[in-house]
Amino acid sequence: MINHICIIFAMGAEAEPAISKLSLPEPQAVFGDHLPMRASTGQRGSAQLSIVLFGTDDRHSVDHIGTEAASLTTHLAVERFKPNLVISAGTAGGFASRGAAIGDVYLACDRFVYHDRRVNIPGFDRSTQGQYPAMNVTGLAEALQLKQGLISTGSALDMHDEDAQAMHDQGATIKEMEAAAVRWVAGLHNTPMTALKAVTDLVDSPHPAHEQFLKNLAQASHNLTHELVRVIDTCAGKFIEDLANRSALVD
Ligand code: ADE
Repeated sequence: MINHICIIFAMGAEAEPAISKLSLPEPQAVFGDHLPMRASTGQRGSAQLSIVLFGTDDRHSVDHIGTEAASLTTHLAVERFKPNLVISAGTAGGFASRGAAIGDVYLACDRFVYHDRRVNIPGFDRSTQGQYPAMNVTGLAEALQLKQGLISTGSALDMHDEDAQAMHDQGATIKEMEAAAVRWVAGLHNTPMTALKAVTDLVDSPHPAHEQFLKNLAQASHNLTHELVRVIDTCAGKFIEDLANRSALVD
């Protein structure tokens, strides 16, 4: 039964509305004072919650983002909290051509891929692209009327032509910087994982992603919080298999 949900965020601005809405305490350096990661824990209904953040790059006074911090944070979080569900939560770019709009909140589907890993050697080509199967959360998406899209992870906010081609080939709707890494590490620990991402920018629009991102970050984080609470309340007390099946989730 799902009774401990660990939610992994990169940025404080993405996590703070959720921490406040869930009445959780200020994130603390529970993994050690030498590490930037922070966690805020508490209870909601029948579920224990741990919200874990990558923490700050003190050299530049900005949050850590990206796959390295995602991997280490997920490893620390899963080892410490032993959750039975991990959610990679945050903001993302979306493809308008595949139906995404600013402020939409997407659940993952199908698989997690990387779009900027180009290693043209058999075996390494597929391995470095991730291609990790996603948990079936179709019932959850239907119950909460959330969109689902294939999430592709990379290490840039902007998009080069090769990356666009890779995402087109994979059928990606959502472009972000952490989910595949969170999925990889959760998988190493045999822990079920999904992702919930709110769209801050349309990557196939003429406007630069960083301008759209900064403009829409607060609204997207607000929408993300709203849907995250619904996801938590729907998942708590259910079984992982139930998330595939709408009728197992709604009365
Ligand atoms: N996070 C928010 N928008 C993004 C984008 N366009 N690419 C990668 N990560 C993002």
